[in-house]
Amino acid sequence: MPYGPRPLVLGLTIGLLAAPAAAQVRVASPDGRDTVMVQVRDGRLYYTLTRDGHPLVQPSLLGIAFQGAPPLRDSLRITDSARASHDETWTQPWGEVRRVRDHHNEVAVSVTEAAAPNRRFVLRVRAFNDGIGFRYELPEQPGLGSFAITDELTEFTLADNGKAWWIPSNRPRLDRSEELFSSGPVSTLDSVQTPLTVELTDGHTCLVIHEADLEDYARMFLAGPRMEGRTLRAALQPMADGIKVRGKTPFVTPWRTIQVADRVEDLAPSVLGLNLNPPNVLPSTAWIKPMKFVGIWWGMHLGALTWATGPKHGATTARAKQTIDFAAANGFGGVLVEGWNTGWDGDWIKNRNAFSFTQAAPDYDLAQVARYAQSKGVRLIVHNETSGGIDNYERQLDSAFTLYQSLGLDAIKTGYVTDFVRDGDSHYSQVMVRHYRHVVEEAAKHGITVDVHEPMHDTGERRTYPNMMTREGARGMEYNAWGGEGGNPPEHESILFFTRFLDGPMDFTPGIFDLLEKSSGHTHSNEEPRVRSTLAKQLALYVVLYSPLQMAADLPENYAGQPAFQFIRDVAVDWDTTIVLNGRIGDYVIVARRQRDAATWFLGAITDEAARHFEVPLSFLSPGRPYVAEIYADGKGADWRSNPFPVAISKRTVTSKSILHLALAPGGGQAIRIRPAEPKGR
Ligand code: NOJ
Repeated sequence: MPYGPRPLVLGLTIGLLAAPAAAQVRVASPDGRDTVMVQVRDGRLYYTLTRDGHPLVQPSLLGIAFQGAPPLRDSLRITDSARASHDETWTQPWGEVRRVRDHHNEVAVSVTEAAAPNRRFVLRVRAFNDGIGFRYELPEQPGLGSFAITDELTEFTLADNGKAWWIPSNRPRLDRSEELFSSGPVSTLDSVQTPLTVELTDGHTCLVIHEADLEDYARMFLAGPRMEGRTLRAALQPMADGIKVRGKTPFVTPWRTIQVADRVEDLAPSVLGLNLNPPNVLPSTAWIKPMKFVGIWWGMHLGALTWATGPKHGATTARAKQTIDFAAANGFGGVLVEGWNTGWDGDWIKNRNAFSFTQAAPDYDLAQVARYAQSKGVRLIVHNETSGGIDNYERQLDSAFTLYQSLGLDAIKTGYVTDFVRDGDSHYSQVMVRHYRHVVEEAAKHGITVDVHEPMHDTGERRTYPNMMTREGARGMEYNAWGGEGGNPPEHESILFFTRFLDGPMDFTPGIFDLLEKSSGHTHSNEEPRVRSTLAKQLALYVVLYSPLQMAADLPENYAGQPAFQFIRDVAVDWDTTIVLNGRIGDYVIVARRQRDAATWFLGAITDEAARHFEVPLSFLSPGRPYVAEIYADGKGADWRSNPFPVAISKRTVTSKSILHLALAPGGGQAIRIRPAEPKGR
């Protein structure tokens, strides 16, 4: 990545003032509420963050440690600072909101070592009304050419011992992001992942620590204070030899971000990270279309079908065609087919280099299925599981993508079931950051969109590459198929909404209707239902959990004769506006979203194991206009544990003055389409 500030849009940037050397430099957000102060104390560089004058982040160390050179940390001096302001509203080609305002004040603080080797760097800080970002920029210079970073010394010393919602980062497994969340005071954290959401003890302010624009660096986890203070430290993920980042000046690091909200409801939609990524680089984005999809997928997770060839092979030409027929008949844009290629037989996690991404299993005719899909107006999503065999995948990328493009296939789902790649590089190391980006870039060249499973966490790259549409990166629906203790608790999605979903869309795969049946192939407890949710909650997840590619995950036969399926057919996947009406982390969320280019709204409400009632004013609707609300509520006696199926479907006329009463069952939810009463207004 080239050094230097990315060009600000001329005419929108006002004031670019350089200031002489100082011991401290401040920058405040446009509304004046968030202030970052960068200062030198005893030769070390620190930053603080305040909101309305109240400290949020106390003096926290900045710096970088290198192999074979002293850390860039001591005997530092601020030699210069340059200010800029920026106000621009840009349009997302697709997203949870259409228009995004990037309004910030910036200061670039030049810092030099007073002692040899007299290296210099710039700390660039941006202050927005919804938080801050800062990054290190290492210019080309005699004392710093090629380098190997052993640690980033950035700290986040929180002023408040708030309640953090966390997943651990130090438990090796096939994907570390797929843990259940815990919560506890910041002071007790050990080793955690970002985005890390912290509710402060004032009872309303929230902070989210994360990163943006991770291009050629290692992923950042946070090492916690482990009962000593409230300092979280950047913990970069290593390559096999322990080095975190290799690079050469000029070089810039990702942004370290701290989102700030006065209320938990203001955390979403979260656009801070998007604003800190470079704008779209693709010549055209018109071909990139959000869609709902079905697939040959859930059957494998239940153990009813297999990825491997044999009598239960899921990806047969015949089953693919049936699934395409189902998609076409119900208005789904896509069909995912997993297990279509060779390499799945035997232990596919160990045999990572056996996967072919061009050769189909004997009972699957890729070209024929592709033609059939096209004839039905359905897009075939090509599955590329790598098991982390990234060299095997990279060798085949061009031939695979060329083949898909020649068959008119423009969407892939990738997979990386592994904790380490190559000879022990972390799944989250610089090696993998480069790999994921390489795949997205190559896919873009071939007109292909990407849905990544076992991904790097989202740092906003969809702004630059809008073909990077969605990803997993958290514990999704599949854990419910595997059953037993491993299933997701009823609170799971109302935690995810305020944590993982703040970094970007997730391919969670909602829409399971067969909630109780026991699986055949996996150990499944006899006491717990398969999915800890009512059926109405499954509908609500389509509104609550944002993804531009949204799966209806159940087997097609489980939707047959189900009136509630109409909601999945109707629900939008691309949004103009998103409003969080009410929420409490881990308890409940109510979200309203307006469909893009339409006057139709959708409302989704979900709860944890507790039944809840809400009065929801519809004041977000256009005043004076009649709408029809199509309501899918938990029916009489609904309860996730014993009776998840009752859904009460009703219709009523509403206006912006209406107040809806929502009754959510234990583990329940409610989904509502609110369309203009006149038929043509949709
Ligand atoms: C894990 C992914 O999350 C899942 O969606 C996929 O079916 C399997 N890997 C096999 O690739």
